Amino acid sequence: MIDPTFGGLLHVEINREPKLSRIDNLFVLITQSDKHKLSLGGDLQKLVSRAIEEAEFEGRPDESVTLIGKDPKRITLIGIGPLDKITLRSLRAALLSVAKLARKNRQKSIAVTFPYSIAGLTPRQLTRSLADLLGNSDYKYDAYLSPKPDEKPIAIDCTLIPTPDLDAKAVRRISEEAATITEAVRTVRDLGNGPGNLITPTKIAERASEVAKETGIKCTIYDRKQIEKMKMGGLLAVNRGSGEEPRFILLEYSPKNAKKTICLVGKGITFDSGGISLKPGERMEEMKFDMCGAAAVIGSMQAVANLALPYKLIGLIPSTDNMPSGTAYKPGDIITMMSGKTVEIVNTDAEGRMILGDALHYAGTFKPDHLIDFATLTGACVIALGGEASGLFSNDTELARKLIESGERVGERLWRLPEWDEYKEHIRSEWADMKNSGGRWAGATTAALFLKEFVDCPSWAHIDIAGTAWAEHETSRDPKGATGVGVRLIVDFLESL
Ligand code: BES
Ligand code: MN
Ligand code: ZN
Repeated sequence: MIDPTFGGLLHVEINREPKLSRIDNLFVLITQSDKHKLSLGGDLQKLVSRAIEEAEFEGRPDESVTLIGKDPKRITLIGIGPLDKITLRSLRAALLSVAKLARKNRQKSIAVTFPYSIAGLTPRQLTRSLADLLGNSDYKYDAYLSPKPDEKPIAIDCTLIPTPDLDAKAVRRISEEAATITEAVRTVRDLGNGPGNLITPTKIAERASEVAKETGIKCTIYDRKQIEKMKMGGLLAVNRGSGEEPRFILLEYSPKNAKKTICLVGKGITFDSGGISLKPGERMEEMKFDMCGAAAVIGSMQAVANLALPYKLIGLIPSTDNMPSGTAYKPGDIITMMSGKTVEIVNTDAEGRMILGDALHYAGTFKPDHLIDFATLTGACVIALGGEASGLFSNDTELARKLIESGERVGERLWRLPEWDEYKEHIRSEWADMKNSGGRWAGATTAALFLKEFVDCPSWAHIDIAGTAWAEHETSRDPKGATGVGVRLIVDFLESL
């Protein structure tokens, strides 16, 4: 078991008519210039309208004010700018600031409302996202911080007040679904934030089988011997320098009413030192996050199974660390992959594609309708897109479009980059079927093209999450560390298929 975190003691309930007398602070997110279009209804509508007038509140994004009252004791108005510019990303930031304020002021009972609708989102989708984001707004990875004796963590009860267009039954459903997604995102964050000495391939496999047990899905763990039998040459090559055993994890969710089969593949490098092609020391500690693709797959499986979505979902995770040693794989080596294709190693730091090549090939044996991989694959993707979007590569424009739309809806932006065959020239080898690195130019694309060599599926997408899987510093949307990217995208994608 992974130790529970203390931060994140914020409990969300959705309720249209909370007892205002019990609430320490009612947070209202207010848009700019159309503040009279509030959709709250009843006394709450009057209460909030009066607060806006009293405070002469405009709703600018940098504006906030707290008014003292009776029922509730306080109303805090938070400006979030013009309605047509609001996205789930800006709401995520606003909700994070709500949780921060409540914790700072030790308010144990708060309510939050966003009394508007957003174009492109149903009230159901919006409410569920708000509830789920709120559930994660207080997240902090403090499993390994000694508790301070004078600072007892306090739990916060948070009521989300939805717009009036949802009935009680819908609200109950949404509440449960949001809690499920929050839990799955937390799984991803806890695994991602876990240090490399503790979150080893063996540990990831253990966590995967725990999740599988809880959700009633099938989990098969392959150890080194079995991986050798399967001839996963890429995974074994990367593992050669390691003191840790590799693992290959197979998760299978097979509901009776399955409409399609989707395979998810996640890069599970528990620490990437670069191997013999050693990385520079600066910020090398961040390479504990190199298993965030694997974490996204485990979290997505957990969410999809708990939501009982009608798709057969298969998760495949190759896992090892990438270390230098006397037995490590090295530049010049030629490796035979599971598919039989050969690879000339020119850089041992291009290890993700080696383990993914085998996993993608294996995924093909399930004949999936769609094959999607998540990987913190290239620094080049971070250079191109920074932290605001994951890189998307796909051989299927329809799939790419669907994923991009899901990303917009849930606030996990994707930006498509090319996987044109012209770039294959960069990974051409004189000695083997391909090289494992194409150098610096178009680095994210040549990595995707390497993966494509092992894909036997007309509808494949590769999602490079190198820039989005973790926040290097605290941002307006996330605390420092793993962001939990992937789960919300996959849930929305399956729901919109
Ligand atoms: N895990 C890294 C990619 C990475 C780097 C993610 C920085 C996030 C931040 C990956 O294994 C890697 O080292 N890629 C190399 C590939 C190169 C050797 C062709 C890279 O991007 O430099
Ligand atoms: Mn690497
Ligand atoms: Zn890596």
